[in-house]
Amino acid sequence: MTATSIAVLAGGISLEREVSLRSGGRVADALSDRGHQVTRLDIDGDLVRTLETGGFDVAFLALHGSAGEDGTIQSLLELIGLPYTGPDVLASSLAWNKPIAQGLFARAGLAVPDRVTLSQQAFREMGATAAVDRIAEELGIPLVVKPASGGSSLGLTIVEDAARLPQAIVGAFSYAEVVLIERFIPGTEVAVTVLDGRTLPPVEIRPKEGAYDFAARYTPGATEFHVPARLPEQVAAACADTATAAVDAVGARHISRADLIIDEAGTPWLLELDTCPGLTETSLVPLAAEAASLPFPDLCERLVELALRDVAAPR
Ligand SMILES: Nc1ncnc2c1ncn2[C@@H]1O[C@H](COP(=O)(O)OP(=O)(O)O)[C@@H](O)[C@H]1O
Ligand SMILES: [Mg+2]
Repeated sequence: MTATSIAVLAGGISLEREVSLRSGGRVADALSDRGHQVTRLDIDGDLVRTLETGGFDVAFLALHGSAGEDGTIQSLLELIGLPYTGPDVLASSLAWNKPIAQGLFARAGLAVPDRVTLSQQAFREMGATAAVDRIAEELGIPLVVKPASGGSSLGLTIVEDAARLPQAIVGAFSYAEVVLIERFIPGTEVAVTVLDGRTLPPVEIRPKEGAYDFAARYTPGATEFHVPARLPEQVAAACADTATAAVDAVGARHISRADLIIDEAGTPWLLELDTCPGLTETSLVPLAAEAASLPFPDLCERLVELALRDVAAPR
């Protein structure tokens, strides 16, 4: 593609700052190796002015966590009139809010774990503590407690003993005002990337020890991946259909990654749709792209082309 002036946005103040810097650094290197004029930008008080006056053709979003993924930066970029990579304002904000996204997925007929959503206000002002026992009764043990928004497994606990549920809920509240408590789905974890309406090969995730938590994600070698996932053809097709339907349910353009767990019966359960998936050395999307014969620099250029193609996207 022709050389383009690209602002790569990475960093920010979110909990996933370090991950974002790793994604952004890798993207910036790949795009400048391809001859583009690349400027790395962090999130700060001069960001809007810099974006307005920098003479950029496009913004590449490598931000994770709030502001980067919840539609905030996307809104600003639309205001400025700068094309950007990844899902638009509405899709980003829908997917960012896991309970809302899960509601949309369930409405579209997808399998989403049984769940309960509770806010801090429900505990502070409405005595929700009295209902905590019922959660374990209804969802069963183990269950998963996580902040209703955010990523990288931060604030997430797998609760194996009902007595520890309150503690897990309090822990998740230090990450978000709303907490999601889900039935634990045992099975094989698979991630499916959707790139411009097409699915890339599913990636099977096998942490060498325990859960796919922060350490398992970002420590090289801590997790084993199989691409494409070792799945019967029918199950692989069901995963691809689920990922595509999830993308359609929130209206996510360009790229997103669906996180799934396949149970013993071969049903893919949808955990979430990540609209600004990680692009680090240990991330899932670059692995899936490689398996589809799309090396990392090509993937980055493709996203830039998509952003430029959709300049006229409605607000
Ligand atoms: N309901 C669940 N059943 C089984 N494992 C889960 C469940 N929810 C989350 N997990 C585990 O926790 C990880 C992170 O959960 P996810 O909902 O994808 O949040 P994040 O935004 O942190 O990636 C998943 O990749 C999976 O390993
Ligand atoms: Mg996830």
